[in-house]
Amino acid sequence: MNLHQQVVEAFQQHFGGEPDIVVRAPGRVNLIGEHTDYNGGFVMPMAINRAMFMAIRYRGDSEVHLLSADFGHGARFDLQEFEYQKPHWCEYIKGVANGLKQRNLPLKGFDAAMLGNVPRGSGLSSSAALELAAAKAFSEVSNFPWDPVEMAVVGQEAENNWVGVNCGIMDQMISSCAQAGHAYLLDCRSLEGEHVPLPEGVKVVILDTATRRGLVDSAYNERRSQCEEAAAFFGCELLRDVEIDTFMAREDELPDLTRKRARHVITEDVRTLAAAEAMKTGDSKKLGALMDESHVSLRDDFEVSNDALNTMVETAQAQPGCLGARMTGAGFGGCAVALVEDAHVDAFVEQVPTAYQQKTDLEPAVYVTEATQGACRYHA
Ligand code: GLA
Repeated sequence: MNLHQQVVEAFQQHFGGEPDIVVRAPGRVNLIGEHTDYNGGFVMPMAINRAMFMAIRYRGDSEVHLLSADFGHGARFDLQEFEYQKPHWCEYIKGVANGLKQRNLPLKGFDAAMLGNVPRGSGLSSSAALELAAAKAFSEVSNFPWDPVEMAVVGQEAENNWVGVNCGIMDQMISSCAQAGHAYLLDCRSLEGEHVPLPEGVKVVILDTATRRGLVDSAYNERRSQCEEAAAFFGCELLRDVEIDTFMAREDELPDLTRKRARHVITEDVRTLAAAEAMKTGDSKKLGALMDESHVSLRDDFEVSNDALNTMVETAQAQPGCLGARMTGAGFGGCAVALVEDAHVDAFVEQVPTAYQQKTDLEPAVYVTEATQGACRYHA
């Protein structure tokens, strides 16, 4: 049974009767452009073939009745009046509802069963998938037009202000705006994006190190302040606005740590734009080389990798047919991403986990993914 069938069945069992619609919102993997989003820079994520599904039936009132089939329990709230209660999956839905209410969108209630297969806490944005599925559900049920960029912002606000996790805009934007078969080159300052086709003959492989970072990450916030400090030194609000030549001319004046942090962000923006160009010309070798460089920069300058991620990346890079690999997402654990030639994928997914496990004693997970569509109504 696929996830769509399972979520419909969970709905039938819990609520009785049939859902009216099913919506789907994907998790993501970032190909390149890491720790650049909150600097107003460039990112290039893609939506993966793992997602949050919601089977929904319209109600005539203002109540939202939910079943999380993942957690095996329900929750409910009234759209007319609700408040933050305690850390709970339902708060993501309430946070989205709150953002929509603030925009004066008329909200209607619904019953919904939810089921997802984006692994939680692994850095593949299961929470953005949940937020965008909720936004899509409200848009369908309440019949307001779907504005993907605005809905991504609603998702980010839910995460920042309601749930209390500081994140940039990348995860929500890709879960909302993605196009199948494409990565998304996003300018995180203007929120303008470009769908860039994935090169032929290669697969994107996600390698979960089985190490985890804490949810509310002080190191993430620390990196953000260091970036702000560096931008202020150059008289800019965002590091995105510091040209690489300007940086190079004055980098010696910066304290060592600030200089390294800034160098990562500024060079990563350059690499991300170059990676998009490489993809457009079908140059997957160049794309892979840029991913390798990104990893070195994240490891040495931004210092957000860990031993497990470094081992995973090196193990992947040593395999035949691997064009490039890097840590992906916030870092300090979670996943790496590799670009692998089609002909070598089978051997790659067999050998990398074994070699990794031998070196680390950790049991990794491997997902070969295609690029899928952003939040949408799902037709079986
Ligand atoms: C996390 C955040 C994103 C982004 C990445 C790092 O995934 O949610 O907004 O900052 O880290 O690139």
